[in-house]
Amino acid sequence: MKAPSSHNTQPWIFEPSEGEILLRPDRNRALPVNDADDRELTISCGAALFNLRAAAAAAGTGTSVELLATGTSSDPLARVRIEPGPGGEDGSLAGFIGKRRTVRKPFQERAVEQALVSGLGGAVEAEGAWLCEVEDDRRADIAGLVAEGDRIQFSDPEWRRELSGWMRSSRKGDGMSLFGLVTPFVRPVVRAFDLGKSTAEKDRKLAGEAPLLVVLGTDGDSPEDWLRAGQAVQRALLVAAGEGVQAGYLNQPCQVPELRPRLGRLLSRPGHPQLVLRLGYPDEELRPVVRRPVQDMLRI
Ligand SMILES: Cc1cc2nc3c(=O)[nH]c(=O)nc-3n(C[C@H](O)[C@H](O)[C@H](O)COP(=O)(O)O)c2cc1C
Repeated sequence: MKAPSSHNTQPWIFEPSEGEILLRPDRNRALPVNDADDRELTISCGAALFNLRAAAAAAGTGTSVELLATGTSSDPLARVRIEPGPGGEDGSLAGFIGKRRTVRKPFQERAVEQALVSGLGGAVEAEGAWLCEVEDDRRADIAGLVAEGDRIQFSDPEWRRELSGWMRSSRKGDGMSLFGLVTPFVRPVVRAFDLGKSTAEKDRKLAGEAPLLVVLGTDGDSPEDWLRAGQAVQRALLVAAGEGVQAGYLNQPCQVPELRPRLGRLLSRPGHPQLVLRLGYPDEELRPVVRRPVQDMLRI
């Protein structure tokens, strides 16, 4: 429940039965404009899958995971078998599930220690993905792609309609608000006006000034790879949260189809970029963002 998900859609269903839990996608919660292939939906489910593994390990229960992701159906994405006795997973990360937050404001200037950067890389690699630290000489180019992505997305009325549709009262238990402004005011503004220019400049600055800017990617680009990316990002975010470091997303260059290959060319490695993250120490403690009731996500 507490995993991150694009637009806080929480697109997962857990189906427990004797000795196993199936993880299904809830494609009624898809974002057909922002995420036409359900790539981010699957990454979000992967993040929830990692939480499940970590929570089971913390409860002294082993798990084995079979990835089943195929494509667009409601078929399960993964089967999690509950193994008798403690498994080989590290349960200590579960303690940080409730401490992880998505940050949208600038971070403190304080640098992220190199040991933690290496730890994040190790966490991501353990899940079959890779992490590429953006070096100073590439930062302006990548910040430029983020800004270009903002302008392209906001210029599309369908994209604005979809975003504003997920901006809702916290009583609904899902969705999000933009810039922390009052939702009834912001929603019609986002739907009606192209805020691309101002958002682009804000995000260019966030990318340019982030203490740490990374791209998380995978060698392949199949639904299984997206599930790996989801588990990888959540594992890394929990490692970071354990050190007081949080992340914000600047995924626009991965979301806009024509920008994704350009981002790939800027990284000095092959593969498929999946997420762009900035990391650092937040200026203030953030409250947890709303979630749906657990019974909405359980199918028994
Ligand atoms: C695959 C994925 C893509 C996301 N993309 C964005 C994004 O482009 N911009 C953003 O501000 N947050 C993004 N988020 C963060 C979500 O909005 C956030 O997880 C959700 O609102 C819940 O808040 P929390 O992470 O603080 O629990 C993304 C999260 C995931 C898992």
